Amino acid sequence: MQRKLLIAGNWKMNTTHDEAVALASSLVEKVGTIEELDIAVCPPFPYLFAVGEVIKNSNIALGAQDVFYEDNGAYTGEVSAAMLKDANCKFVICGHSERRHIIGESDELINRKLLKSIAEGLFPILCVGELLTERQAGETMEVVSQQVTRGLEGVSAAVMKSVTIAYEPVWAIGTGVNATPDQAEQVQAMIRQLIGQIYDSTIAKQIRILYGGSVKPSNASELLACPDIDGALVGGASLKADDFCEIINRGLEVSRE
Ligand code: PGA
Repeated sequence: MQRKLLIAGNWKMNTTHDEAVALASSLVEKVGTIEELDIAVCPPFPYLFAVGEVIKNSNIALGAQDVFYEDNGAYTGEVSAAMLKDANCKFVICGHSERRHIIGESDELINRKLLKSIAEGLFPILCVGELLTERQAGETMEVVSQQVTRGLEGVSAAVMKSVTIAYEPVWAIGTGVNATPDQAEQVQAMIRQLIGQIYDSTIAKQIRILYGGSVKPSNASELLACPDIDGALVGGASLKADDFCEIINRGLEVSRE
């Protein structure tokens, strides 16, 4: 089965309003009409509307970097799934490692965010990945399978079509050191197998599993060519229009092969 690649840019806590609009405009101009793969950008919350306006007539989708699981009320600083829908978001990142390890989000919290996102019609991207110490201790598979299993708790087979998983080894994020294609493929194949066990082989074949962690133009081809890598979640390189577009073009080449 040919899964459509998804190349998503996670801008994290970067850009000003003007930079966000300029970056989005440049992407629309360069890759805004591509249909062979899916493209998304996840700007900071304050710029969702502005970026949404820029990309609205293109094939680039809008994503958010986080969400809260309640509908509304006294949750100072939080943003609901309905608000993200209002801003025309399609995707939402849940459980990014920076939220797990800097903010302290638990698997349980991430699971609630994921369930709420699905219930509101958003497409969550569940991020999982091991720390360097966990890899060195030989715990990668255990850590990642636990994050996947707990993250998907209570998600029925019927709604799994809206879920994307992103394998992002923490030691590869923002370090310039990517997982080798072999390292990434090993873990991603395990995740797919696990999805087959939790759900069934059809869902395992359908689900998109992205790789994230220092993806750049120079390593995108070999990573995206791996059988169980269905796209990329790109941080640093998504802030430069040329680099992000080149990664997209590498993805196009791979999907045409
Ligand atoms: P990076 O970030 O590409 O800068 O390593 C990836 C991510 O955190 O999603």
